Amino acid sequence: MAVAKPSNRSSLLLPRRFLLVLTVLLVATDDEAAAAAGGGLSIGINYGQIADNLPSPSRVSRLVRSMQVSKVKLYDADQDVLSAFLNTGVEFVIGIGNENVSAMVDPATAQAWVQHHVRPYLPSTRITCITVGNEVFKGNDTALKDNLLPAMKSVYGALAALGLQGQVNVTTAHSLDIMGSSYPPSAGAFRPDMAPYITPLLDFLSTARSPFLINCYPYFAYKDDPSGVPLEYVLFQPNAGVTDPTTGLNYDNMLYAQVDSVYAAIQALGHTDVDVKISETGWPSRGDPDEAGATPQYAGIYIGNLLRRIQMKQGTPLRPAVPIDVYVFALFNENLKPGPASERNYGLFYPDGTPVYNVGLRGYLPPMDESDGTRSVSRLFSYSGFLLSHSANLLGLQTL
Ligand SMILES: *[C@@H]1O[C@H](CO)[C@@H](O)[C@H](O)[C@H]1NC(C)=O
Ligand SMILES: *[C@@H]1O[C@H](CO)[C@@H](O)[C@H](O)[C@H]1NC(C)=O
Ligand SMILES: *[C@@H]1O[C@H](CO)[C@@H](O)[C@H](O)[C@H]1NC(C)=O
Repeated sequence: MAVAKPSNRSSLLLPRRFLLVLTVLLVATDDEAAAAAGGGLSIGINYGQIADNLPSPSRVSRLVRSMQVSKVKLYDADQDVLSAFLNTGVEFVIGIGNENVSAMVDPATAQAWVQHHVRPYLPSTRITCITVGNEVFKGNDTALKDNLLPAMKSVYGALAALGLQGQVNVTTAHSLDIMGSSYPPSAGAFRPDMAPYITPLLDFLSTARSPFLINCYPYFAYKDDPSGVPLEYVLFQPNAGVTDPTTGLNYDNMLYAQVDSVYAAIQALGHTDVDVKISETGWPSRGDPDEAGATPQYAGIYIGNLLRRIQMKQGTPLRPAVPIDVYVFALFNENLKPGPASERNYGLFYPDGTPVYNVGLRGYLPPMDESDGTRSVSRLFSYSGFLLSHSANLLGLQTL
């Protein structure tokens, strides 16, 4: 494992002091990124890497920190990424890919995995959660479905053997396909064929005090029925909303209705002690001709309004006091993802670091040859120039 080089902070002193006069909202240095990670705006982002043109993890580390993103979710446990974020304060969800889940049933394999992929990074890289598999119940690999919970238990056991079970959660991320009904939210229920899997899974999450993760895409509902699903309702724009006849709660957006339907489904299986978090949500900026709504304009509205609600620390109608916990999908467009064109166009950024649309999350991607602490004076000034526009954008975000 690489050891983090201390960065030369003195090279940042001039613009930093200058900026503090202008605004305290911005993350300009490693120290401030760490501070932001501990509180304040808490945006998570999925760092998918199914692409052959993405910048190096060390450049991405700077980009992420310049955006004030405090939480990153990976689909694997990429050592280069985890090393690039040492001592940054950024929190990590790391993953065990579906292809590796069944092997983890063996406690010795799980132990070796934790020893190799988790233990060496703690506490310098803040790994707070492991997702064992992604959307396992959406596929039809029965052996994999059967192996999921035993694998989660082995990983949890491996963490517990090291005394890490309170520091690192163990869970898995689900697709909304596991829902049999989700409307109205209070009638939310898992598919009947899912119950044999979900019931013991919830018992585990409750015991392990780990969250239930769900990938939510109101975009899919809109794409499937653009004339039936009101755009304002999926894009968090002003609208009358829909009232749940059972609870009387009013929903002005589909994302919250989806989350609350999952809470209802969990409660129907006897649990009120498991948190629901959104492990993915996003909106594509481009799609095939038959993919309605996949435009930079709508993607920008969706993400911009979502960020505003995160900033407000809003909860769902059912849990108003629990701020929504969201990982936006995704950091970059991923050119090698299979499927319709939309799949390759969920990124906030192109691989060169330019924003796909403007929601105030403009970041700074350092040039290829730059290493920490060796920026020239001219670079410092262009950096502060970027931060000024970032500041203007953030203010714009607040008044969207
Ligand atoms: C995950 O599975 C792939 C493909 O079977 C394998 O090459 C890789 O070594 C596995 N990784 C771990 C960490 O077990
Ligand atoms: C599930 O199995 C059916 C046929 O058995 C197949 O047509 C379908 O593509 C499979 N779905 C997935 C997600 O693998
Ligand atoms: C683990 O998940 C629980 C339940 O959502 C949460 O309260 C706790 O903060 C999480 N722990 C970490 C280290 O993130």
